[in-house]
Parts: sequence; C-alpha cells; structure tokens
Amino acid sequence: MLRDDLRALPALVGRPPAFDPGALPADPRELFVEWFRAAVDAGVPEPHAMTLSTVDDDGLPDARVLLLKDLTPEGWWFASEEGSAKGRQLAANPRAALTFYWSSLGRSVRIRGRVERGSDARSAQDQLERGVGACAVALVGRSGAAVGGADPDTEIDAAVDAALRRIREAESGLVDPGWRAWFVHATSVEFWQAHPERRHVRVRYERAADGWAIARLWP
Ligand SMILES: Cc1cc2nc3c(=O)[nH]c(=O)nc-3n(C[C@H](O)[C@H](O)[C@H](O)COP(=O)(O)O)c2cc1C
Repeated sequence: MLRDDLRALPALVGRPPAFDPGALPADPRELFVEWFRAAVDAGVPEPHAMTLSTVDDDGLPDARVLLLKDLTPEGWWFASEEGSAKGRQLAANPRAALTFYWSSLGRSVRIRGRVERGSDARSAQDQLERGVGACAVALVGRSGAAVGGADPDTEIDAAVDAALRRIREAESGLVDPGWRAWFVHATSVEFWQAHPERRHVRVRYERAADGWAIARLWP
C-alpha cells in the first residue's frame, strides 16, 4: 500500500546548520543570500530551483518549478514565456509566491509579493544566457499548448530544428520577443528551519513603511 510506504518514509532528515533567530539582518535578502550560499556549500542539488505559484482567472492556484535568475534590490527574478499559462496568469493578476526547499539543510523559504515585468533588454539577455537550444525552444513558443498531429515528437523536433536554423542564419543573437524576465517585489519573506522535535524555527519579514517588520512565528 502506498499509504504504508509513505508513513514508513523518514521526513526532515536534513541537518540544520546553526541559526540564531535573535541575530537577524534587517533585510531578508541578506538572510536569503546567507541561506542560499549555505545550500550551495552543502551540495544541495539545484538549490536555485523554486516553485512559482500564481492564480488563474477562476482564482484557482497554479504552480510549477522554475530557476531563480537573480536577486537584486528590486526582488527575486525568474524568466519564462509570456504566452505560457504562468505568463497569462501574471498579466491578469501580477502576484505570486516562490517556495524554496533545501532538504539536506532542513530549510525552506517562502516569498510572496507583487510581480513586475523586467525590461526587453534584460529579458533578451536572460534568453541568450540560456544557450542556443533553449533559445530555439523559446522561438518556437506555444508553451503549454497541445501538440497536434499523430507524432508529437517529430512535430516538436521539426519546429525546434527550424528555429535553430533561423538562429544560425541570423546575423546577431536572434531572440524570442515573447521571452520575459520578471521579478517578485516581496511583501513578505518567511524563513523556516526544521527542529528535530518539530519545534521548527519560523521567522517572517513583512514589508513596512520604513523597512521590514520581523516576527517570530509559532511552529
Ligand atoms: C528544475 C526545473 C527548472 C525549470 N526552470 C524553468 C524556467 O526557468 N523557466 C521556465 O519557463 N520553465 C522552467 N521549467 C519548466 C516549468 O516547470 C514549466 O513546465 C513551464 O514553465 C510551463 O509552465 P506553465 O505551463 O505553468 O506556464 C523548469 C522545470 C524544472 C523541473
């Protein structure tokens, strides 16, 4: 039974590093960078993978995994197709949540806030940095649309190969204008660290008029 298998599995097996919630930086970005670097140093696989949650027109939440692209004074950056489900959802309702989980450290971070579009230049730069194969897929577009035809793999391969040819024949970096970088302007950032007896440490930063208000939360 899957139910029994699930209950037999250990959870929160990570070894949380030292964390003093009494000595926090005033800005959550500083603590995020500290925790992110700890995840990299601990060898967490793909520590920049995060869940981006959005809401559709019916108010139904949607979520998928993306890569964090940058953290600047504006916020946490990610990039995708503007015509994708997430792109359409963000155009209608530019609010989102990001969730990170670094298992071997028993740490998770949740970020909520307003989403803003990055400039065309920044979006193009992001796309070029992803490499030619990713650019070709972006140029094909149609992310999330159903593939027609009897043989979807052949259809996809033909479209991507045609896009690759267009990129190679173009004089300078051809990019898909539909590729977009966005950032989450955080209104709240929560840091969660596992405790062996489940007295987990939770710290929430909420944006205030003059900086950040910090609260310790019950586990
Ligand atoms: C580890 C990982 C990283 C991913 N990174 C991205 C990314 O940076 N941008 C992106 O558009 N899709 C990325 N994807 C694919 C998305 O999860 C998703 O399938 C795609 O963006 C379509 O989402 P949507 O239909 O909800 O818009 C990634 C998937 C995984 C598993």
